[in-house]
Amino acid sequence: MGKSEQANQQTDQQALDENIKNIRYKLVILSGKGGVGKSTVVVNLATSLARQGKSVGILDTDLHGPNIAKMMGLEGTAMTASSAEEIVPLESHGIKVLSMASFLPDADSPVVWRGPLKMKAIRQFLAETRWGTLDYLLVDSPPGTGDEPLSVCQLIPDMDGVIVVTTPQDVALLDSRKSVNFARLLKVPVLGIVENMSGFTCPHCGKQIDLFKRGGGERAAKELNVPFLGRVPIDPRMVTSGDDGRPFVSDHGETEAARAMEGILSNILRNVEGAPVPTKEGETA
Ligand SMILES: Nc1ncnc2c1ncn2[C@@H]1O[C@H](COP(=O)(O)OP(=O)(O)O)[C@@H](O)[C@H]1O
Ligand SMILES: [Mg+2]
Repeated sequence: MGKSEQANQQTDQQALDENIKNIRYKLVILSGKGGVGKSTVVVNLATSLARQGKSVGILDTDLHGPNIAKMMGLEGTAMTASSAEEIVPLESHGIKVLSMASFLPDADSPVVWRGPLKMKAIRQFLAETRWGTLDYLLVDSPPGTGDEPLSVCQLIPDMDGVIVVTTPQDVALLDSRKSVNFARLLKVPVLGIVENMSGFTCPHCGKQIDLFKRGGGERAAKELNVPFLGRVPIDPRMVTSGDDGRPFVSDHGETEAARAMEGILSNILRNVEGAPVPTKEGETA
């Protein structure tokens, strides 16, 4: 790399740092494979955070399969740039949302890009988007440990943590290990593992059926020596909510699955923000 190229990169990084300096906590969600519920977890954690009064943004870096816009009820809403230099995120349920889907001419257009182009897009999403002041930015990822999460973690060197989502089968260990090792390699703290699609209560007889077994995520967490954040049962209404673009936790707050999401969020917050610091005896700040 030439000297001027190196200097350019430094200036680029400074501009990016400056643009996201008012985002307090940045978290990235990973999984070994697709369809385990990453995007669903992102949407529901973000909604729960917003319901607690926190300001939240979601960055969807699943460039090839961006689902966040649809799950947040923003499908078909095109992005408008406020000026040539700035992207204004869309807003839904009080959450700022930026997804590749909003830049595509229609839902069926594929993105055919190699690594460097993906990195460039993600850099723009971070450096040229008017994120403003946020308590949390949740970054959704495609499955695996490819260009997208690598770019994100390199572009945000002070990333606060990785959350790994898995399903309960024995292969959870195999699937989670790569994500955990990826985080360790990049020196990003692992906040823990979520076991999703863990058990299903039959709505007719009330009995529990373990469609994908149970406990694999928890065992993986133990084995990999990272926190276990909790398990979310299968709830068919979660599929409907996602398809309808309505966060499950806001429509079905009383369900076991919604309470599980809330519990997972508390575990994450405890880890990220730490326990409240006692000021005087018996008081908390
Ligand atoms: N706990 C759950 N119960 C029922 N359906 C779920 C659950 N978690 C996710 N889903 C559904 O599974 C599908 C895949 O989830 P998604 O979040 O898109 O996974 P990923 O982002 O990991 O590919 C979606 O249709 C979603 O609604
Ligand atoms: Mg997804």
